[in-house]
Amino acid sequence: MTMDMTREITLEFVRVTEAAALKAARWMGKGDKNGADKAAVDAMRGMLELVNIRGKIVIGEGEKDEAPMLYIGEHVGGGGIHDPQVDIAVDPLDGTTLTSKGLPGAIAVLAAADAGALMSFPSFYVDKIAVGPAAKGCIDINDSVKNNLKRVAKALDFKMGELTVVILDRPRHKKLIDEVRTAGARVKLISDGDVAGAIACATASSGSNILMGVGGAPEGVLAAAALKCLGGDIQVKIWPRDPEEKKKIIELGFSKKQMETVFTAEDLCHGDSTVFSATGVTGGDFLDAVRYHGDTAVTHSVVMRCKTRTVRYITAVHQTKTKTVPSRSESREVRI
Ligand code: FBP
Repeated sequence: MTMDMTREITLEFVRVTEAAALKAARWMGKGDKNGADKAAVDAMRGMLELVNIRGKIVIGEGEKDEAPMLYIGEHVGGGGIHDPQVDIAVDPLDGTTLTSKGLPGAIAVLAAADAGALMSFPSFYVDKIAVGPAAKGCIDINDSVKNNLKRVAKALDFKMGELTVVILDRPRHKKLIDEVRTAGARVKLISDGDVAGAIACATASSGSNILMGVGGAPEGVLAAAALKCLGGDIQVKIWPRDPEEKKKIIELGFSKKQMETVFTAEDLCHGDSTVFSATGVTGGDFLDAVRYHGDTAVTHSVVMRCKTRTVRYITAVHQTKTKTVPSRSESREVRI
């Protein structure tokens, strides 16, 4: 994408995450995470059709046989021969359980970049460490937890006790949590949503400073796209849960060497053509929830461009009586 193209289509991508968030938010607190996810996927897929790109999904809802839309390899966008070829990474609803339970932290996310720029990680786990711009260059996933925390605290000019480490609340993180606490830092446990968790670490007002621990690999690529735009840093390493999963990952084409490789932000998201957009669904550290007032629904989004590192926060007021979004599954416009 040329500089002008990324400028022109940046707002189009905000419309895409807004549509996903608007449809998913209707499912908030309904106890149906699949319903919420489906609604987000359907609206995101429909809306992508209106963007003048020749897009290919590299991070999406899984393989073709398990996902009817936004599957890896699917061509999206309404562009013709003269429009740019673009890699698209999506998580239409990061935080399906959060949404179903009405808990904060769910967002609709999309990253787009020149074809070949985004790494295509299928759905397995990776170990992650991520920080904001002030601590860029201070992380080393192969080093001890304590040494990483010391370097990040120093870079931020924090005492160890002032540092907040975001970690997914999972049994697999017991040792990590103990190590962080023993080092004297504070732990912020999140029940889901580590894309938002990573971005929060690059957002000064969030109070979060470093994300650590194992989460989804696709979410790692999306976090890398955002962190590159924000000037932050991330490293990930493939984390198979057991020998069986390790075998599967190797069968997917990852070499034994890659199983030990530290993937940097640049590996996950190459160059500076990336555009990243996210819209809050249930509200959280850096994006408010979709809110309804009378006949309007208000969305809060952030959109960033890697080239210029401009970060725009966009509040949009949508008229619920008249506004529609394209539903891919129904092949028609539907009310928000
Ligand atoms: P969903 O929105 O698909 O439920 O994923 C949320 C999430 O918390 C991600 O943010 C995170 O990377 C991943 O799940 C962690 O996986 P698991 O819940 O299996 O530990």
